[in-house]
Amino acid sequence: MYGCKWQFHDKNTEQLKVPFMTDIKKTKLDMEALKDKILQFKKEHNAVILAHNYQIDEVQDIADFTGDSLELARKAANQGADVIVFCGVDFMAETAAILSPEKTVILPAADANCPMAEMITAGELRVLKERFPDAAVVCYVNTSAQVKAESDICCTSSNAVRVVQSLDADRVIFVPDRNLGSYVARFTDKQILPWEGFCFVHDRITPEDVKKARELHPDAEVLVHPECRAEVIDLADYVYSTSGMIEHVCKSSKKEFIIGTEVGILHRMKKDCPDKLCYPLSQKAICTNMKKTDLQKVYNSLVSLTPRVTVPEDVADRARMAIQRMLDI
Ligand code: 13P
Ligand code: SF4
Repeated sequence: MYGCKWQFHDKNTEQLKVPFMTDIKKTKLDMEALKDKILQFKKEHNAVILAHNYQIDEVQDIADFTGDSLELARKAANQGADVIVFCGVDFMAETAAILSPEKTVILPAADANCPMAEMITAGELRVLKERFPDAAVVCYVNTSAQVKAESDICCTSSNAVRVVQSLDADRVIFVPDRNLGSYVARFTDKQILPWEGFCFVHDRITPEDVKKARELHPDAEVLVHPECRAEVIDLADYVYSTSGMIEHVCKSSKKEFIIGTEVGILHRMKKDCPDKLCYPLSQKAICTNMKKTDLQKVYNSLVSLTPRVTVPEDVADRARMAIQRMLDI
């Protein structure tokens, strides 16, 4: 394993505040008004709203499209809109800006970042490339534009195995997620050199969580995200990206599912497959950054067309090659 001596300080312990009854009424009224205004400004700016599967319920509901990282990247590349409002985290909006430099890409919550994406810098990756000059470089989409620019090809959780298998090289530098890297290594003879990054939301899910959930719901299938630890993946029935999980639940003849990823996904499961019962594998699986976007911020961003996400042209041109190679697979 190569990589950072990363000390992650988990800020994800804040309790959600429960509003008083009067606040709830007010919030409901405001929400309806906000939704109308969002639709009005969206039309005025010829904007499209893309939301990741982990976004809060109201944001998912107002979005034109909700999906996993790969689906959102594809949508961002193929939109007729002038403005893309990206309800997710920074690397997702950056990817949209790289793929559609002529469009205005907005990230409503300017501080919504992905801690895992920040666990490797372009400089660190360059050092690794010098050390293993024969290795191909695969970067998870959860990386900065600068890291993508240093990579041969990008991948997401839904295509990481296919991307690695498509390469000629026998050795692959895989950044930044050690768990996704070790998951991919199960399916290839290539030597995977994983960076030691991780997602704090998935990495904290334990085998004990799986055992307890199975005891509580003995008839349920266990679906986990490949950002989970290897020992959690070993206990699961299936491993999928977020949209892969939704598809599995909707198509399966089974009724109950234990879902090992960020809890925001349960909203889409309820909507898309209302006849199924989905339980979170861990109630603690909350990505605070994904929860920073709300309707007020979506509205503000549509009015002001800020905070805008741009990527310097030279970096974007190199990063686009890595993303495009992935999209071409
Ligand atoms: P997917 O939606 O691509 O599975 O990714 C999960 C994730 O953690 C995105 O940050
Ligand atoms: Fe990053 Fe994990 Fe949050 Fe996804 S869930 S945005 S990988 S911290």
